[in-house]
Amino acid sequence: MTTDPAGMPADLLAHARAAKGFMPEDEGLLLHRVARERLPHGPVLEIGTYCGKSAIYLGAAAREVGGTVLTVDHHRGSEENQAGWEHHDTSLVVDDTGLMDSLPTFRATIAAAGLEEQVVAVVGRSTTVSGLWRTPVSMVFIDGGHAEVHARNDYTGWAPWLVTGGLLVIHDVFPDPADGGRPPYLVFLQALASGDFEEVEALGSVRVLRRVRGTAGDPVPWDPSLTAP
Ligand SMILES: C[S@@+](CC[C@H](N)C(=O)[O-])C[C@H]1O[C@@H](n2cnc3c(N)ncnc32)[C@H](O)[C@@H]1O
Repeated sequence: MTTDPAGMPADLLAHARAAKGFMPEDEGLLLHRVARERLPHGPVLEIGTYCGKSAIYLGAAAREVGGTVLTVDHHRGSEENQAGWEHHDTSLVVDDTGLMDSLPTFRATIAAAGLEEQVVAVVGRSTTVSGLWRTPVSMVFIDGGHAEVHARNDYTGWAPWLVTGGLLVIHDVFPDPADGGRPPYLVFLQALASGDFEEVEALGSVRVLRRVRGTAGDPVPWDPSLTAP
């Protein structure tokens, strides 16, 4: 199996490039690298599957080193995916209901990439699933709803299940408001301010933090007085 210079198996890089979605290649290769580091220590959990583009980068790591990637999404799209919004894709609308459904495209994408053994879809609302969740994870990748309530729920619902030394990876972190919305940046600030996490790497809008205090099952704090400038 050939591997490109950045370390991603060439066949899967081609699938990731072709997949529908919102994951630039340099950021995807970072996801792949950190997932490869963490998967030997437990499952990797993604919030925000969409059509599976980022899941291919994560699943490629699982194919290489073993382990499982879980990816959570209700597959009905975020606010910005709905009709009339910037990231709406009419091909994902189900004719008879008018609702969005990214699950069939995700399923076909992961099957074509040969990653069905590595990437497990969990279909449901993030808070519903995290409320029932009890399994330690080695890495959490937050790329779900970008409204503040969703970003906060994804952080407070899923980051607690990180083992000590586990990685919290956040997408669409924009310190400058001119570049994008505030909620993922606020999650990043909350994690740092808590003292439970330390930043280890940044690339584009991706931030990688390590859990340095607490272990799986311990809650993470949220300080309502801390806002994103
Ligand atoms: C930015 S997209 C994910 C992009 C994807 N990671 C990629 O590589 O293309 C965000 C996804 O989060 C999902 N989502 C938004 N809010 C959610 C919630 N509360 N629970 C579950 N999924 C949610 C949407 O359905 C959407 O598919």
